[in-house]
Amino acid sequence: MAPQVVAPSAEFDWPKLAFDLYPTAGFVKYVWKDGSWGKQEWSDSPYLNMHISAVGIQYGASCFEGLKAFRHEDGQVKLFRPDENSARLNHSAAALSMPEVPKDLFLEAVHTAVARNLQFVPPHAPYGASGSCYVRPTLIATGAELGLVAGREFTFFVYVTPLGSLYGSAGGKAPGVDAVVVHDFDRAAPMGTGTVKAGGNYAPVLKYQARAKAQGYAITLHLDSKTRTQIDEFSTSNFIAIKKRDHESDKPTLVYPKSESILKSVTAKSLMDIARSLGWNVDHRPIAFQEVVDGGFEEVMACGTAAAITPIRSITYLKDDGEQAKVSIGDGQNAGPRTLELLQNLTGIQAGNVEGPAGWLW
Ligand code: COI
Repeated sequence: MAPQVVAPSAEFDWPKLAFDLYPTAGFVKYVWKDGSWGKQEWSDSPYLNMHISAVGIQYGASCFEGLKAFRHEDGQVKLFRPDENSARLNHSAAALSMPEVPKDLFLEAVHTAVARNLQFVPPHAPYGASGSCYVRPTLIATGAELGLVAGREFTFFVYVTPLGSLYGSAGGKAPGVDAVVVHDFDRAAPMGTGTVKAGGNYAPVLKYQARAKAQGYAITLHLDSKTRTQIDEFSTSNFIAIKKRDHESDKPTLVYPKSESILKSVTAKSLMDIARSLGWNVDHRPIAFQEVVDGGFEEVMACGTAAAITPIRSITYLKDDGEQAKVSIGDGQNAGPRTLELLQNLTGIQAGNVEGPAGWLW
């Protein structure tokens, strides 16, 4: 049977797509009760009916994933590495005492949510310049309890929205953004839930994110909570840097923080693979913030599903004496050449214009 091709909706102004929610045809959900997952259900209303004492509402048993679907030149729509998101959702589920979502069920759900919303997948562009379809699988404890227990009912649902770029870095172009270190809040404790994509990890960051925005910074950077000297991650995404080279001819080295408290980004993992395939060195190790201060990096970027690859042009922080200081990265304006190379490879693979490793597109 020929694969189904559904054109992007003519009612959208695709080039103006924002990082926002747009109404779609509906979402897919499954309910877990009495030890097993029920049948797939479809809802054309974007609401979930829940008991007011649901464990997910009262005690925060809720986690989510973010992945993207891209329209290829032949009209086919491809998901980027959904198997990785399935594995990470189950890591989160285990941490929050929620049942596993079997990989097949996860893939079926994501497939259905996208397949029934194909008109909301933006038009093809060689480097995903006009956006993508963002997919949000979510697992929440919907069982009603008063005591502090996991509950007896859980709901797994997947919705989608057409998506523009979070920081304006879609496609081949990438303007840099300013980052600021948050020194007065510990985002993730050692042996805590930093690796878990729990909704509860994000809400406490909101006020620091808003403060940073009001001061002109697009993104906040968080250091480790134990020593407050090592780089953990940005509020929305992981940290990646390109080490300063001693000689122009040296191979580039991509550096990615080794920390027990950061979300393991599928994008970061993919970028490390892409860097290796380009013949670069990949250094996965703890990164002292002092290395940034000492000018140890030629380029810095934020990476994640939503952020894609966002170049960081400066990082502002507080020195030991409490004075504010700003480190300018690269030319202090735009993405450096390695960031652009990574961005074009990643978005090229996603859009089907660059050959990527087997199994990345579904
Ligand atoms: C994603 O990259 O998918 C995220 O979940 C980031 C979100 C906090 C905007």
